[in-house]
Amino acid sequence: MCGIVGYVGHRVALDVVLGGLRRLEYRGYDSAGVALPSDGSLLIERRAGALANLEARLDEVGRDGFTGTSGIGHTRWATHGPPTDRNAHPHRSSDGKVAVVHNGIIENFLELRAELEARGIWAESDTDTETAAHLVALAHAGELAGAEDAAGDLTAAVRAVARRLEGAFTLVVTHADDPDRIVAARRNSPLVLGLGEGETFLASDVAAFIEFTRSAVELGQDQIVTITRDGYTVTDFAGEPVAATPFQVTWDLAAAEKGGHDYFMLKEIEEQPGAIANTLRGHLVDGRIVLDEQRLSDQDLRDVDKVFVVACGTAYHSGLLAKYAIEHWTRLPVEIELASEFRYRDPVLDRSTLVVAISQSGETADTLEALRHAKDQKARVLAICNTNGAQIPRESDAVIYTHAGPEIGVAATKTFTAQIAANYLVGLALAQARGTKYPDEVVREFEQLESIPEAVAEVLESLGEARALGQELAPSKAVLFLGRHVGYPVALEGALKLKELAYMHAEAFAAGELKHGPIALIEDGLPVVVVMPSPKGRAVLHSKLLSNIQEIKARGARTVVIAETGDETVRPFADHLFEIPAVPTLLQPLVATIPLQVIAAEIARARGYDVDKPRNLAKSVTVE
Ligand code: G6P
Repeated sequence: MCGIVGYVGHRVALDVVLGGLRRLEYRGYDSAGVALPSDGSLLIERRAGALANLEARLDEVGRDGFTGTSGIGHTRWATHGPPTDRNAHPHRSSDGKVAVVHNGIIENFLELRAELEARGIWAESDTDTETAAHLVALAHAGELAGAEDAAGDLTAAVRAVARRLEGAFTLVVTHADDPDRIVAARRNSPLVLGLGEGETFLASDVAAFIEFTRSAVELGQDQIVTITRDGYTVTDFAGEPVAATPFQVTWDLAAAEKGGHDYFMLKEIEEQPGAIANTLRGHLVDGRIVLDEQRLSDQDLRDVDKVFVVACGTAYHSGLLAKYAIEHWTRLPVEIELASEFRYRDPVLDRSTLVVAISQSGETADTLEALRHAKDQKARVLAICNTNGAQIPRESDAVIYTHAGPEIGVAATKTFTAQIAANYLVGLALAQARGTKYPDEVVREFEQLESIPEAVAEVLESLGEARALGQELAPSKAVLFLGRHVGYPVALEGALKLKELAYMHAEAFAAGELKHGPIALIEDGLPVVVVMPSPKGRAVLHSKLLSNIQEIKARGARTVVIAETGDETVRPFADHLFEIPAVPTLLQPLVATIPLQVIAAEIARARGYDVDKPRNLAKSVTVE
């Protein structure tokens, strides 16, 4: 949610900043803007809408003047104020000297704005961010009460202002008179530093600078960082120096590019076999499941008597599957809850509760706050995350990373299947620690998981027909999804993909619930997607769902059925049949999801939508 970039180096900053914003557009695309110091003033351009609008504006004004080698940029997901040119970042102080980009929400901005107005400083925009620009300018001019010693020192000025702000904020600040330095403050929203030869980068995500360097530095909570072309310094909000953790990014530029596909999402769908395999790799060592990071003892895992899973969106759907696996393998009770609801209802937690927080980005505010609530109640937290060093894994007691690589498409695909694999690793790790499975059984389950990437690759090869179906279903008003047992979360995820990408009304039901109400929705020609269980796995589930299909078929539904290869019983009731390879019941979601992702993407494309950037959405949501 909001992408921010800062650069000081030897290249034309405008090009570096725009390139970075292009890779961060998945974080928001309501507006974009840049600010670059130039001869004692700031060149600022900002435009509502996608980055392309800003680029068009820059072409209009001419880029010749933009020769500076430092600058900041922003791509916005609007919170305060509509997505207009006026509200686009960067925001500037009234003396024109300071420009600020911001990710997050300054919760006490009304109070601060009133304070500024009392001094005769009026806001130009509706944003909370603008207050920070005015305050930094005042502090830099030695006119902010209590921060007089910050005069002429941009780092001290930003630090003084950070102490005044409440809420979630990552600010990146440039000053017209100090072009060789950029200063940032970080609280709650992400910020990472990139180190090149004679150049230094700041960004919400390493993708913004991966083209230039894979050397990165993790920044922590409540830190102030100053970058110059030769390096960086980090302090806390009190000005005490703090050590930052360097790391190497394990993927490269090619992973962050479309690789011949029209959309990132289509590439990411195809990357799923690799994403699942990479997530599993290295987790079975000498016949034992190991986590990526474990700041818990084995005894702590043995002491767990209840598991809560918290997550949002697609990650929540993967969490629903964690419940099936963990309960089945460990006999521990598992509750799954939307992270945004969790802390507001006083859940029963103590030191023997394990909370599994699942988040692709590792920065979703709802999930982060749920985690913090759990920790306050002394529960242990295990994170499943796709972003190395993000806030959620940093604050957790144990971590499994989904090594799915960067996911740029806003709608999650490969990280969903990678999360399912990681959830199952959690289940196996608990079963192993608690002795509810013999070591050889754990190894066998793991090996079955390891064979899944091949099955997924097989599904991906057989999806030509899904593309044609996308065209056919594009004019539909609504689509229903049905599943039972582990097929139900798959149905929920299929419906979510369709809502996100095709803006189509889509709803998923547990198939058994159909007769208790939703069947009234069935009318002639209504597409209903059904996820069939294996006839060999849980035969009883299969026969129940077969009856449900007949019930909807009898009422005119147009059925799209995902079924195991060779399941002939379902064929007569399927208007469209997608066959998936036979795999163990718990693992079926990993293969059954793939056709639903492709169908949703194809419907969206047939409707003319950009599947990488669905309207109103952002990939990571850093506000509650
Ligand atoms: C946003 C995205 C969803 C995602 C959810 C959770 O709403 O649009 O695609 O599933 O956040 O994100 P997380 O990074 O925590 O997995």
